[in-house]
Amino acid sequence: MQATARAHTNIALIKYWGKRDETRILPMNNSLSLTLDGFYTTTTVAFHEELTEDQFYLDDQLVEGAAYGKVTAFLDRIRQTAGRLDLSATVHSTNHVPTAAGFASSASGFAALAAASAKAIGLDVTDPELSMLTRHGSGSACRSIYGGFVEWEKGTQADGSDSYAVPIAPADHWDVRVAAVVLSSAEKKILSREGMKRTVDTSVYYPAWVESIPADLAAIKQGICDKDITKVGETAEANCLRMHATTLAAQPPFSYWHSTTMAVMEAVQDLRDSGVPAYFTIDAGPNVKVLYLPEQEETIREKLQAIPGVQDVTVSRPGPGLAYL
Ligand code: DP6
Repeated sequence: MQATARAHTNIALIKYWGKRDETRILPMNNSLSLTLDGFYTTTTVAFHEELTEDQFYLDDQLVEGAAYGKVTAFLDRIRQTAGRLDLSATVHSTNHVPTAAGFASSASGFAALAAASAKAIGLDVTDPELSMLTRHGSGSACRSIYGGFVEWEKGTQADGSDSYAVPIAPADHWDVRVAAVVLSSAEKKILSREGMKRTVDTSVYYPAWVESIPADLAAIKQGICDKDITKVGETAEANCLRMHATTLAAQPPFSYWHSTTMAVMEAVQDLRDSGVPAYFTIDAGPNVKVLYLPEQEETIREKLQAIPGVQDVTVSRPGPGLAYL
């Protein structure tokens, strides 16, 4: 009863921001991401009858506390689905997400955990079913089941049975690049879960965010289909700015940006002014990701690395979906 799976992280170009159901992790809006080749998690899960409680090792270190709690809660769901509440598991995860890259490892982490644990316990699940299981660990993780461009459909059912990811275009459809620009390795002050809740509950801009999504989705899907960097980039950047605007209109207001976040945004704008198609997106933290085409690689690296306050720039390509090892 053992299995190993590898999943890559993803960056949202149309953000998941806000839940309609916090228990079932059901989003208010569809989101769309690109899975990245540079950052992934490999997880081995082994179920045993003789174990009395789960054990979770991350990069060979035994994990306790909140992170352990999230893993056991997730395994409870797997055990329940399989009807095997008698089993406990040892979980070994290795994060190939350079800590300096400023990516949350939760997306690749929960996708790998879901795949490995479902297989180890003998659950015969389809990809949409696996995406739905993964969603319960962390919403954005449900998109990491697939490679390339992926949409998470919010679904319409109250029980969440139609809220899962669907592939839009495979990784080899289009060679775009994403530079992860790291400004600070400090812990996020407001976790995405908490930030999106406060925004849904209090932001006067939140309804406008939700209303703006269908047009963004239509535009970005057309852009992906046409391999149109301008359309994809402009849509993603505007969507990111609109998401962050909702935080400024929350009560109490907050922002994920640091001064260097804005310096990177300005540098990206400068690049465009000089004719280089480059576009930024930012998740629930200060680090910036920059989207561009391969021929601009050197120009982009040079420009981003020269910004005072930038610690590191790591480049990624479109990456693959889940793999069992
Ligand atoms: C800003 O997936 O981390 O990165 O479902 O509460 O675990 P939970 O939230 P999480 O939120 C990600 C928010 C985001 C946008 C995105 O990835 O779509």
